[in-house]
Amino acid sequence: MNDTANLRPKTREVDATPYAASLIEGHRDFGYSLETALADIIDNAITAGARTVELIADTVANEPWIALADDGSGMTEAELVEAMRLGSKNPTDEREAEDLGRFGLGLKSASFSQCRSLTVLTRQDGRTSCARWDLDRVAKRNDWSLELIDNPEVVTGHDLLAETGTVVIWEKLDRLSGGYTHDRAKRAEHMNSELSRAEHHLRLVFHRFLEGAKPRLKLSLNGRQLKPNDPMATSHAATQKDPEEVLRLRQGDVLIRCHTLPHHKRMSREEWEEIGGPEGHLKAQGLYVYREKRLIIAGGWLGLARQTELSKLCRIAVDIPNTMDAEWKIDVKKASAQLPPVVRERLKKVVERFVGTSKRTYRSRGQKLVDEARFPIWNRVQKDGQIVFRPNLEHPVFQTYAEQLPEELREGFERCLRIVGSGLPIETLHAELVGNAEAVTADETSAADLEELIYSLAVNLVENGMSTDALIDTMKNYAFLRSKWDSVEPILQKFLAEAE
Ligand SMILES: Nc1ncnc2c1ncn2[C@@H]1O[C@H](COP(=O)(O)OP(=O)(O)O)[C@@H](O)[C@H]1O
Ligand SMILES: [Mg+2]
Repeated sequence: MNDTANLRPKTREVDATPYAASLIEGHRDFGYSLETALADIIDNAITAGARTVELIADTVANEPWIALADDGSGMTEAELVEAMRLGSKNPTDEREAEDLGRFGLGLKSASFSQCRSLTVLTRQDGRTSCARWDLDRVAKRNDWSLELIDNPEVVTGHDLLAETGTVVIWEKLDRLSGGYTHDRAKRAEHMNSELSRAEHHLRLVFHRFLEGAKPRLKLSLNGRQLKPNDPMATSHAATQKDPEEVLRLRQGDVLIRCHTLPHHKRMSREEWEEIGGPEGHLKAQGLYVYREKRLIIAGGWLGLARQTELSKLCRIAVDIPNTMDAEWKIDVKKASAQLPPVVRERLKKVVERFVGTSKRTYRSRGQKLVDEARFPIWNRVQKDGQIVFRPNLEHPVFQTYAEQLPEELREGFERCLRIVGSGLPIETLHAELVGNAEAVTADETSAADLEELIYSLAVNLVENGMSTDALIDTMKNYAFLRSKWDSVEPILQKFLAEAE
């Protein structure tokens, strides 16, 4: 009964080599976009020690092409053949520190996601080698034989090859044509807009490499140098940087650093929009995970918190080494990852504390604005756990006017104000405030209205015993008036002059 030998399967072997044509076509759909594909090729250049990467795109040619030329180590022919192999490296092998690679698939799958013809030209020790995967050729032959090109000087992009370095050339850009196969102008327009999106992404993903007086990497697009886009706005004087926290794990150290971005009023509109990215600040808040200084996750709380207006300025930089890939489930594209449980636990505490504090600051500031002004135009009323905003009928502006009305009209006037209050379009406001809060503003006040408001306020305050000296300070406490102080001050001076 215990004779396990009988339980062992009896095996035979047959050849089940994958069909080259279908397997290689399948490598087109790992979910790369142009930007993640370009980033993956640039990763290889950085790992090869490149100091400059030139991205050249000819979008108007009869047959458009894209090339990435680096001045890294280059490869020998044998290395090139290995590099072109699908799965050239085992993901469980240890990587050198600073190696940005992952599965030994990036070069191929990133390229095939965009093109049907991948040519790699490389030069090391004065020897030039060139190899090509053309998916149409693979489809015809259905085998894994790689084309080596012995006269590389005829290859598009050959003139970009450095003394030592590598050029990756994408041709047959079927995925980038936007469906405009015959309309060349439309096709170029589509490609250019894709490239400009990619440009934003690359400036973000590699910002740590592009920064500083002597940047680690110079990256250009069609000859134009790309500037870094730092999502933490580190160099901005008003950015709040908390001290770094170190999480020591068996596989290496994880560094955590909380940043609070400056309020949008303290930045130029361009700066604000740039770090907000294409989807805006609400979506851009959250964790920024860097693997070997290269950004792999840009924003979002990975389930640790909600993205709210109150935490909109919170961003946490998390630095991980490449020794934790398996734990983080870094995908082929290096565009997604999951928090390992031990990091998750710790990070959850950091996020709760950080986001929680930022909410409190916001709230107390909100409360103050209302309390500070002795006569708010709107009252914030808390009732039954709900918060209601109500026009303040006691406000001198309303009071003064109401007093001038004949008795029978006063009731109607007050009703109108109450209706304005209950008609506050809360849902529309919510919708607008989410993601677009800084664009929502109060209506402008005309000069005449402002004067009326200031006068009735001032009269009321003076009548209630306030000295004229204290008047200016009190008025300044009014957020509403402070925001237009340049217009308020002359009116107030006029009032004071008249009062003397
Ligand atoms: N620009 C380059 N310069 C030098 N070597 C490169 C370059 N691009 C790719 N390689 C070589 O090809 C190999 C395979 O690249 P890739 O398919 O992206 O896988 P991975 O980056 O995960 O190793 C790399 O490990 C590297 O040895
Ligand atoms: Mg790679």
